[in-house]
Order: sequence, then structure tokens, then C-alpha cells
Amino acid sequence: MIQLKSLQELEKMREAGRHVGEVLLHLRKLAEPGISTAEIDAEARRQIRTRELESSFLDYAPGGAPPYPAVICISVNDEIVHGIPGKRRLHDGDLLKLDFGVIFAGFHGDSAVTLPVGEIDEESRHLLETTRRSLDAGIATMKPGQRLGDVGHAVQREVEKEGFSVVRDFVGHGIGRALHEPPQLPNFGKPGRGQRLKAGMVLAIEPMVNAGGHEVRMKSDGWTAATADGSRSSHFEHTVAITESGPEVLTRVPGSH
Ligand code: MF3
Ligand code: CO
Repeated sequence: MIQLKSLQELEKMREAGRHVGEVLLHLRKLAEPGISTAEIDAEARRQIRTRELESSFLDYAPGGAPPYPAVICISVNDEIVHGIPGKRRLHDGDLLKLDFGVIFAGFHGDSAVTLPVGEIDEESRHLLETTRRSLDAGIATMKPGQRLGDVGHAVQREVEKEGFSVVRDFVGHGIGRALHEPPQLPNFGKPGRGQRLKAGMVLAIEPMVNAGGHEVRMKSDGWTAATADGSRSSHFEHTVAITESGPEVLTRVPGSH
């Protein structure tokens, strides 16, 4: 069952989304050569504390996975999603993905952004821009009456016309009192297929795009997903409410993606 949010619940989700957007915008400034990914996680923890929020990610343990040990996922270069912050330092030319979520008044917000560290190569720039465009193309379809397949198809078309590939093993999701609620929202699909969107649904749409093939390999930490062929990957995500007047991007703040 897809939970429809009331106007009061949506008001709380707006606040959750705004906090996520503001913190990500703040963390972007740290994405410079030399910083460790643990230092970015530490700043994210400080933001959660001062804003009196809770982390959506810390200790999250779906289906017997080891509890997630940080408040942010930081994935670099060929890593797609769920990279764990640690001692590793960023270098000029790295393609950095920050994925962040918080709980405000019982409701989750979830958003991700891809950032260049210093100067990135032309293909990485193209991959990043294509992924951001595919997110916008997907969001544009998120209106009452449209189907999940219409959203996925819009994302996939934008990606494949540039010769990149969409990850299949991870998908977007409903979001609310839980980080992951039904339905699943694949970044691929056929127009006219799947459930219809209704006003009151809130969905996290999150294209993950590989420069090479779509296949994924899991790293030995049990969390980090990387490209099987070692190619680079990009990820953008927003939490979006479906309203009668169209999509409302809850995690977008002025200056963010
Ligand atoms: N934003 C990611 C998602 O929607 C992160 C969740 S995994 C976690 O799937 F363990 F970090 F929480
Ligand atoms: Co998500």
C-alpha cells in the first residue's frame, strides 16, 4: 500500500526536506582535495545535532545487513552508492557523491548530489550533467495520473541518448515515516506501465548512472556498491511530493541541484 500524506504530514516533510537541502548545500563547500570522507561525516553529524534532527541512515540495517555506521553515504569515482565515510582523502579529479537523509518530526527527507573535486575530466563532467538532467526529466513527469513507468522511462531516455547506462540493482522509493516505503521507483521503464501517481504520494527519485555498463559489484564492507567494470558513476536524488499542481521538490533549496 502506498501511503498518501495529509497536508499536515506534507508540512513536516517540507521541513525535513529543507533541512536535507540546506545541509547538503553546506557540505558541498567541503568537497576539496585533501579532506577525508570521515571529516565530511563529522560535519554532517554536527549539522544534525545543532538542528535537533535525527539521522535517517545511522544504524539502518535492512535485511540482515551490518548496521550502517555513518549519517551520510560518500561514494567516490567507480563507487555508485552507499560508500562508508572513513580515512580516505579526496583528490583532485575525483567524482564525489554525497547522499544524505534526516528525520524531522517523524518524517524522512533524502537527497543526493554529485560534485567535482577540483578539476574533473570531460567524460566525468558529461556524466554528471547527464545524470542531473535525467533527474529533472524524471521529476517533470511526476504529476497525478502519470505512471511509475513514465517516470523511469523519462530518466532512462535522457541517460541512454548520451551513451551511458542506468543502474538496475538500486531504485528510488516512497518515503515518509520510513526511509523506504512502497512503491519502488526504477530509473528505467516503459511508458504507460506501472501504478498511477496520486496527489499526496511522496517519492525519492534517484538516478544512478554509469559511464560503462549497468552492472554492479558489492565491496567487501557489505555496503559499498561499485560499477562492475570500474567505470565512473554519478547519482542525484530529490524527495518529491506529488501535488494537484504538479511535482513539489521538497529537498531543493535556492542554490542546490
Ligand atoms: N539514500 C539512500 C537510499 O535511499 C541511502 C540509504 S542507505 C543507508 O537508499 F544505509 F545509508 F541508510
Ligand atoms: Co533514497
